[in-house]
Amino acid sequence: MNILAFESSCDETSASVVSFDGGTSRGRILSNIIASSVELHALYGGVVPEIAGRAHIEAISAITYEALEKAELTLDDIECIGVTAEPGLVGSLLVALNFAKSLAYSRNIPLVPVHHIKGHIAANYLTDNVPTPPYTAFVMSGGHTSIIEVETYTEMKTIGYTRDDAIGEAFDKSARVLGLTYPGGAEMDRLAYEGNPNAYKLPSAAMRDGSYDFSFSGLKTAVVNLVHNAEQKGDSVNRADVAASFTKTVCDSVNKKLEEVYTQRGIKSLVLAGGVAANSHLRRVIGEFCKKHGVEVYMPPLSLCGDNGAMIASQAYYEYLAGKRAEPNLNARATSLF
Ligand code: KG4
Ligand code: ZN
Repeated sequence: MNILAFESSCDETSASVVSFDGGTSRGRILSNIIASSVELHALYGGVVPEIAGRAHIEAISAITYEALEKAELTLDDIECIGVTAEPGLVGSLLVALNFAKSLAYSRNIPLVPVHHIKGHIAANYLTDNVPTPPYTAFVMSGGHTSIIEVETYTEMKTIGYTRDDAIGEAFDKSARVLGLTYPGGAEMDRLAYEGNPNAYKLPSAAMRDGSYDFSFSGLKTAVVNLVHNAEQKGDSVNRADVAASFTKTVCDSVNKKLEEVYTQRGIKSLVLAGGVAANSHLRRVIGEFCKKHGVEVYMPPLSLCGDNGAMIASQAYYEYLAGKRAEPNLNARATSLF
């Protein structure tokens, strides 16, 4: 079965064709075209929703042609359409959602709505080393930070999440105050290698109330204050030391919550997902955690960590098998946890 899927929840417009052979076999990516408006947002240091929405509408037709062309298929070969319906920026989500609805309606192709976070997790089914539910997933991105117990391909329960900012937001805003270009996560990753991780003491993002939750706003604000206070005194911070100390604090916070989940609920295998899962320091620390406890670990390749249509096609396939179909009044939702 060939699935054409769309993603437009933030600042990446993506169309992808993924082919499935049946059963729970992994999908084969035939095309995964991504158009990003990130350069337009870099001017403002963060995503500007209206600019993102307009960029999606400009890109979506062309990338759909491109995705079909690269897959060497036409719409006649498409048996299912998948689309991100929630959560995300509504003005962004609506673009791909409306496009997918119209395409599905006009060609009489089944339409499957996909939850963005489930899509990130499903990116792992497109790799050579495929996890099989049940397992624990840790989703970390610009908009999300969730520890999730994945029961089946479609049923899952969030056991921990962020009470305020997402982990990627903390990376991007810390990077911005250090003068790095938006989105600064990848540059923070590199810069952290050049600094002393013990130079600055920063507040943990791990909640201390018995939950598996995080709070990244205190850590983010501490970095902003550190830099601003130094500037006000006419001093400057060592940027690499800040990046290294911030990264160490993030890694320690994540490690602490994973230790608690492991001790109290058990983790058989751990699956990483989302843009921040590309962070090399987190990959190392989480890899060490899994090795220490004999937990199997799955990390998607960097190309499938960020937002892309193939991960939406992957989840759409399992939702399709479970019988999920879009209602005619399907709408976008800005927030939704499960
Ligand atoms: O999954 P994603 O593309 O979009 C959302 O669903 O939010 O994640 C984007 C986030 C941004 O915050 C970006 O800075 C971060 O992923 N990111 C990284 C790295 N690469 C991307 N953060 C830390 N280290 C990286 N290497
Ligand atoms: Zn995402």
